[in-house]
Order: sequence, then structure tokens, then C-alpha cells
Amino acid sequence: MHVHRYERAILGLTALFLAIAGAALAYSVLVEHHRLPGPVERVDPTTVRQVAPFNNPGVTQTGPTTYQVTMLAQTWSFIPQQIEVPRDSTVNFLVTSADVIHGFIIQDTDANLMLIPGQVSSTTVTFHTPGTYLLMCHEYCGAGHQGMFARIVIQ
Ligand code: CUA
Repeated sequence: MHVHRYERAILGLTALFLAIAGAALAYSVLVEHHRLPGPVERVDPTTVRQVAPFNNPGVTQTGPTTYQVTMLAQTWSFIPQQIEVPRDSTVNFLVTSADVIHGFIIQDTDANLMLIPGQVSSTTVTFHTPGTYLLMCHEYCGAGHQGMFARIVIQ
């Protein structure tokens, strides 16, 4: 079968780009250990406010420089609205939604979650630079969406 040389070149380039993308993905997963933030557990969104740990959202120190933040998203706020931890803290966020789908993104970090009612999502961030980081809802969730945010204060 005759394949035109331009077509052969395009096929070769396509194979090369696929190989580069595959190698980048393998490097990311096997060497850098990057993972998609997955669901941690299931909860009933209608009763989540009464069930631990979401009946008492807030910050808990779990080690010399590690903290657990339990957070509830609802139309149109996060509970708690502000958390404060020292610089160089590693913070594990455990978050769920009590009503509709919300987003969770922290300015200047890799933290980016979908908050789906019934699902607990988790991500971990180490904050080295002092300052106030905005935590925003980035999934349209109704009339008050644009005002749905919280603050993370690193001291
Ligand atoms: Cu919550 Cu947008």
C-alpha cells in the first residue's frame, strides 16, 4: 500500500506526540506520585450536619506541623469561614457539601476539588508563605455563587 510521504510524516509526528504524552503521564504518576483527589467516603447530605466530624467543622492539630481541617460547603458559604495555621503547616482538608455541587479551589496552590453532596473529598496542602489565601467555590451553585469563599490565614 502506498502512503503519501506527508501522511507518513503526520502519522510519525502523531505517534511521537502520543509517546511523549504517555511518558509524561507515566512520569507524573510513577515518579512524582501525582494522584487525582478521590472520594474518601460517603455521607448522607441530609444528615451530615449532625454526624461527626461535620457536626463540628474546624481546625484540629494532628502533629507538630500538621492540621486537619473539616469543612462544610453550603449555599453560599464555607463553614468555617476562616482558618488560621502557622507557616510551613501541612493541612489536610476533609470537605463535603450539605446541599448542591460546589467547587473548592485555593488561590496559589494545587488544591482543586469538586464537592458533591454525599461524597467526602480530601486534599492536602503545605503552606510555606505567610498571607491570606482565598478559598473559592468555582462551580456555579446559584444566585450567591460569586460570594462563596473562605479565607485561609497563614501566620
Ligand atoms: Cu458554591 Cu459556587
